[in-house]
This record gives sequence, C-alpha cells and structure tokens, in this order.
Amino acid sequence: MADWWDANGARHRKQFATSAAAREHEHRETALAHAERASREMKLAARTGGGKRARTETVTGTGANGTIEPAKGKLGVMIPGMGAVATTFVAGVEAIRKGLAKPIGSLTQMGTVRLGKRTEGRTPKIKEFVPLAGLDDLVFTGWDIFEDNMYEAASHAGVLDQRLLDQLKPFLSSITPRSAVFDHNYVKKIDGPNVKKGKTKMDLAEQLRHDIRDFKKTSGASRLITMWCGSTESFIEPTEAHQSVKAFEKALRENDELIAPSMIYAYASLMEGVPFANGAPNLTVDLPVMLELSRKNEAPICGKDFKTGQTLMKTVLAPAFKARMLGLNGWFSTNILGNRDGEVLDDPGSFKTKEESKLSVLEHILQPDLYPELYGDMYHKVRINYYPPRGDNKEGWDNIDIFGWLGYPMQIKVDFLCRDSILAAPIVLDLVLLVDLAKRCSELRGLGIQEWLSFYFKSPMTPPGLYPEHDLFIQLMKLKNTLRHLKGEELITHLGLEYYD
Ligand SMILES: NC(=O)c1ccc[n+]([C@@H]2O[C@H](COP(=O)([O-])OP(=O)(O)OC[C@H]3O[C@@H](n4cnc5c(N)ncnc54)[C@H](O)[C@@H]3O)[C@@H](O)[C@H]2O)c1
Repeated sequence: MADWWDANGARHRKQFATSAAAREHEHRETALAHAERASREMKLAARTGGGKRARTETVTGTGANGTIEPAKGKLGVMIPGMGAVATTFVAGVEAIRKGLAKPIGSLTQMGTVRLGKRTEGRTPKIKEFVPLAGLDDLVFTGWDIFEDNMYEAASHAGVLDQRLLDQLKPFLSSITPRSAVFDHNYVKKIDGPNVKKGKTKMDLAEQLRHDIRDFKKTSGASRLITMWCGSTESFIEPTEAHQSVKAFEKALRENDELIAPSMIYAYASLMEGVPFANGAPNLTVDLPVMLELSRKNEAPICGKDFKTGQTLMKTVLAPAFKARMLGLNGWFSTNILGNRDGEVLDDPGSFKTKEESKLSVLEHILQPDLYPELYGDMYHKVRINYYPPRGDNKEGWDNIDIFGWLGYPMQIKVDFLCRDSILAAPIVLDLVLLVDLAKRCSELRGLGIQEWLSFYFKSPMTPPGLYPEHDLFIQLMKLKNTLRHLKGEELITHLGLEYYD
C-alpha cells in the first residue's frame, strides 16, 4: 500500500497487487520527490542569493533541465588587460575565422561529449551539443594602461609570428584600448599613460559602466562578457568592505585603498548584468560582495588564474600518485619567464598572489589530513624567475621526490618548455563561450559561481566552506556532466555494470 494525494490535497491510499509493487512505487515516488526538491532548492537559492545550496550533483537528467536561450546575435568580449594573452586570443580567433589556423587546445571547438552508453556511439562535438556562440559572432573591446592597439600590442608581446600578425593587421589595428582604471600600488612594475581620472573609485566605476554601455551600442552586441586578462595585482586579504554590496559601495565612495582596480571592473560589469571571468589570481570576483551582485543580477562569475603550464601538469601528476597511494616527500617547482607578466611577478606583492594560487593545489588533491603517512610531511616550493631572454616561452621545471613500497624513494623530473599565451588563449576562448552559455541557461545564471568551469583555473572558486576540486579529470567530468545535465542526458558515472548483465 502507498499513499497518494489528489489535486485538492486530499490523501488516498493506493492498493497494489504485491508488496514488491508497492515498494517499487514508493521508491519511484521518493526519487521523484528528491529530484523535485533539489530542483526547487536550486531555483530558490538562485533567486534568494543564499540559503541552502541545491544538490545538483544528485539530480540525474531525464529531460532538459531548465531552458537555454539560443545564441542569437553578436557576443561582445570585453578584456581588461590587452597584453600577451588577450592579443594571442583575439588574433587567434581572427586567424581561425580566416581559415589560417586551427583552434588547437580549445575543448569547445575540438572536444566531444559522450552521450548514453558506450555501445550507442553518440559523441557529438560539444559545440554541436549545446548552443554556443559561433566564432564569427565574437566582437571585441578592451582596456589597457598602454595606448597600443591590438596589432601593436601583439607585435610587442612577441608570441605570434609577425607574418601571421601582418595578415590580420587591419582587424587587429581597429581594436584600440579604452582608458584603464589603474593603481600603481597594485602593479608596481609597470605604469602607463592611458588611465582614467576620477575623484572617487565610484566615479571610476561609473566611467567603466559607461564604456560597457557604449560598447554594447556601437558593436551591436546582444550579449556581453568581461574577461580579466590584466596583470596580477598585489596580494590583499578581504576586509569588511568586501562583505556586502552596501559596504563595498560605501568603500568605493570613500576611496578605500583595499579596493583593487580589478574589483572596480568586476563591480561595473556585474552592475550591468555582465558575467565576469578572472584569468589572474587576484581576489576580484572571489568576494562575498561579488557573489551577492552576481546572483542578484544573474551575471555568472568564475575564476581564478588560468591553469596553463606547470599547474596543469601538477593537477595531472598528483592525482596519479594519490590513485596509486605513492607518497610524496617534496615538490620543487621553478620557472623562468621573460614576458611582461614575468616582469610584473618579479614584484614580491604580485608574486605572493600567484604563489598562493599555485601552492593550494597539492594540499587539496593529496589531502594530507586523510593520508598523513603519505603526504603529512611534504615540502612544496614554487619559484618564478624573471629572465627576459626567454620572452613568452616559459620553462617550468619540477623536481618531485616520491616514495613507494616500504618507503623506497624515487624521483621524477618534469621540464616543460611551454608557451604561456599559446596555452592560455584557448582557455580564454572556452571561458568566453561557456560563461555566455551559463548566462543563457535558466538553471545556471542565478547561481553566482560557475564551479563547473573549475577545469580552467588554478584556484577554482567555490562557495564558502566547500573545498575546490583540483584534479583535472574530476574537473573535466564535472564540466561534461553539467552539459549533459543541462540537456537532460544521463550523467556518466563510469559504473558500467550494465554491460555485463
Ligand atoms: N599566460 C599564462 O599562461 C597565464 C596563466 C595564468 C594566469 N595568467 C595571468 O593572465 C594575466 C595576463 O597575462 P599576460 O601574459 O597577458 O600579461 P601581460 O603583462 O602581457 O598583459 C597584461 C596587461 O594588463 C594591463 N593592465 C594591468 N593592469 C591593468 C588595469 N588595471 N586595467 C587595464 N589593463 C591593465 C597591462 O598593461 C598589460 O598590457 C596575468 O595576470 C597573468 O598572471 C597568465
């Protein structure tokens, strides 16, 4: 027997032929009630901007979840910081549009997603599975303290071949930087002339909001996203001023020195309902005030710090050691880097911000509190050395001291001769397209932090009290399962027992 309620709320007792049928019915009803409750909680959390978080991970889709608006019209990409990463990204998009190159390294452009069972043979490209903006629909603007247009800035960065840049010259030259909100105290190694003036930080925020509206109008974009590719700012801790919109706005009016320029861009964007992704390790949107604004204005946020070279390797190798229960005595990582980013990171304040971001990864993956004999005593050191001759071609060198059966020591050496901006550019493209998707999804846009995009970051943002997932393959599964969930496809658990029935 099982209870049921009619449309008027009256309770009835349902009869079943066998007790197994009654149990089966009860299980189904309970599962349905759980799914409905999870969905209600998620909507409520999105609307109220707080309270209990919805347990999305337990909901298995059997029909599309929420609605996804189509990617109609142009998508305006606004980039504070038109340096090496930004120009490599924009020049790359234009080269791909012209058929001169391929979007290597971009999951949205080249990746697939498996749907259903392994025997079904359904693996569409991600960009065909979910409605993403097409590359032809992207339009760009940016801000920088230097006046160089994108052609000049890309030539100066020295990442891409000058012959390729020359083929893209008319397009790249047409993108000139808007004047920046800048504070030399936050980026000590550089200074430039193209900077906004205002009596208060609130005045500067207003000027940025004006820029945003102006770009929307002049570009004809139907949607916008802000993608921080600016320099790494000096390390600061959150204060009272960052705890709520009210406190933050007061602090903006009072020129509080602990409001960094990147936060002013973030505030301006979110106030305009524009999503904000953070490619640097600065706090920027990783603050209660920004979470509050993001939820209120349904403008998704994510960050921090693109996961490109050495940390990418770390988040691949460390999970392998843990999977095999191999111990770790120490991990020494050093880098030589000669681009402007390297110069900025030569300042102890900016380096500290980056160091914090790079260091947190191992603790979270290896969980020394759970495995004290294996990881309780590990020594982790990260150095970044500015070495101009290398330009953007960084060398990331790792010495890893591990131990195995009966404690016998072993060593691994990794020498990654990478290209920083070549690794970062496809991440920028994916984030632009996926954050725009989040903004068009009824289920995602009110959540604030888009944790499913952790895949792209060294220090993935999470709500207070929730530790981030750093393992690259867990992050990838999270990303793809989110896409499956949105489209109502079954989540892939890799259990696989059904193949042996
Ligand atoms: N390339 C990578 O692999 C990688 C990985 C992770 C994070 N990052 C981060 O991405 C960011 C960009 O890296 P990059 O190599 O392009 O550096 P870059 O120095 O070439 O470019 C940064 C640009 O930001 C500008 N800028 C600084 N403050 C600004 C402000 N307040 N407003 C507007 N513009 C401002 C600078 O003038 C410069 O042109 C850095 O913070 C870097 O740490 C890069």
